[in-house]
Amino acid sequence: MSARSETRESLGFQHRHLLGIEGLSVAEIDFLLDLADGYVEVNRRADKKLGLLGGRTVINLFFEGSTRTRTSFELAAKRLGADVINMSIAWSSIKKGETLIDTAMTLNAMHPDVLIVRHPDSGAVKLLSEKVNCAVINAGDGSHEHPTQALLDALTIRRRRGALKGLLVAICGDVLHSRVARSNIYLLTTLGARVRVIAPPTLLPSRIERLGVEAFHDMRKGLEDCDIVMMLRLQSERMQGSYVPSVREYFRFFGLDHDKLKAAKPDALIMHPGPMNRGVEIDSELADDIDRSVIREQVEMGVAVRMACLDALTRSLQAAAEGEEAR
Ligand code: NCD
Repeated sequence: MSARSETRESLGFQHRHLLGIEGLSVAEIDFLLDLADGYVEVNRRADKKLGLLGGRTVINLFFEGSTRTRTSFELAAKRLGADVINMSIAWSSIKKGETLIDTAMTLNAMHPDVLIVRHPDSGAVKLLSEKVNCAVINAGDGSHEHPTQALLDALTIRRRRGALKGLLVAICGDVLHSRVARSNIYLLTTLGARVRVIAPPTLLPSRIERLGVEAFHDMRKGLEDCDIVMMLRLQSERMQGSYVPSVREYFRFFGLDHDKLKAAKPDALIMHPGPMNRGVEIDSELADDIDRSVIREQVEMGVAVRMACLDALTRSLQAAAEGEEAR
């Protein structure tokens, strides 16, 4: 076997883009998580800088607000040695009427290697990926997918529990508007976890069971015996009209507090993708309870997972370019 085909064989992830978790295999997800695991150690060292992406250009293109995801991708790319540009809607030409595709084509002409895109419309990132030559990572498109969030959640769980297979995971709250919920459902069910969704009927997509989950409208019943309790933010910015009677009422029935948590396993872990609405979907004290909450760890895992995704995609780009050359 030649050195080149050996590299191709050892590539665990051969996609050009990372647009979602749907359709990824167990092996591909495991490959990304294993790679990320190694980066966790790199991020804990004093010297965190690697040269793997030296000479590469990464553009963060955010059409929607973000704190942790954008900084996390920026740090990940910089720690791998790439040059990083951050573009946000506030000062881009979109405000001057340029379309999504025009912006993509303009950036494409500058030869970036990876575009990291967040957009308020489901499907917009895929559309953009079809128009450019570089790799595209979906950093959240509408209520569709947020693949790196699901991967970082999985890494957090895996490091705490060893494996995801057989775990009982409850995803609670605004499932209807949540790309985090959708990506997590795909990932968790693919890796063999059992998934429950818990929400008022107004905040659950119809026929959600088709995704292989069990639906509950009562927190105590849904949380019974769960190993992991994943809370979601009430996404008011995506709501037109009223989905819940009041925030106070919502917390009473669907907010996670010590009392409702008693239904879950005694050592159940609490997760939240952030940003948190304290006192709305989660009791503030519980969110900070270091014996139960792994919310800070999720943020730490985020950088490692994004390094792994950038690494895997650029390897895949490289292999494709070498393949072209050989032909
Ligand atoms: C999530 C998002 O933007 O989808 N946040 C994140 O990426 N950390 C969840 C949310 O906004 O509630």
